[in-house]
Amino acid sequence: MAHLLIVTASARTEGSVSRSLADEFRGGWEAAHPGSSVTVRDVASLPHIGEGYTIASKMPAAARTPDLTAELALSDVLVDELAAADTVLIATPMYNWGLPSSLKAWFDHVIRMDRTTDVDFLAGTQVVVLVTSAGRYSSGERVHLDFVRPHVAHLLAVLGADDVTFANAELTMALTDNPRFASMREQAQADYEATRELLAWHAAGRAAVAA
Ligand SMILES: Cc1cc2nc3c(=O)[nH]c(=O)nc-3n(C[C@H](O)[C@H](O)[C@H](O)COP(=O)(O)O)c2cc1C
Repeated sequence: MAHLLIVTASARTEGSVSRSLADEFRGGWEAAHPGSSVTVRDVASLPHIGEGYTIASKMPAAARTPDLTAELALSDVLVDELAAADTVLIATPMYNWGLPSSLKAWFDHVIRMDRTTDVDFLAGTQVVVLVTSAGRYSSGERVHLDFVRPHVAHLLAVLGADDVTFANAELTMALTDNPRFASMREQAQADYEATRELLAWHAAGRAAVAA
């Protein structure tokens, strides 16, 4: 049975473009994969790793005390969720030119020397990363200010991912009816539709998508 893991990271629920596109991806994916299952992991309020994690994750499992084993409980759940997925959608905003600290915390939990690195952990898993931002960074004069895509690409490479696609929903302020961004609206909407199409194609297993 195919399994999809969706990781959402926006701090907002109302009006979140990344959450809305993630929902759409889920709909398309479920339609294309009957009998499949989906896990949604919202990392917006995920706790950061703590001192216990730093000690326990460096020890062989057999050497851990019950208390130290418990320190890895959340990390183990998150790693298991990732291991179970055939497809992973990470839907994240750009915050202050980088990834949200909550998503970084999720990577800190799942990048585990004892479990997920040096083992091609995500090899063969289809990974789609949707990045939303108010500005445009995937092309043009601000590309050098994008600290999301290079960072996430590297973290996924550390996990052994070999099938990664980035999708971009940019100029998201212009998708609202705020008159300040009216001049950008047409371009923002065209880009948004192109991204929806790309996501639909990936959700459908990269097969033809019905109009
Ligand atoms: C704390 C914070 C920092 C942000 N930093 C940036 C930024 O550096 N560059 C940018 O283009 N947009 C930035 N934005 C705008 C968001 O990326 C944009 O609103 C995006 O649509 C948020 O994703 P969401 O719609 O899924 O909530 C920031 C928003 C917040 C709340």
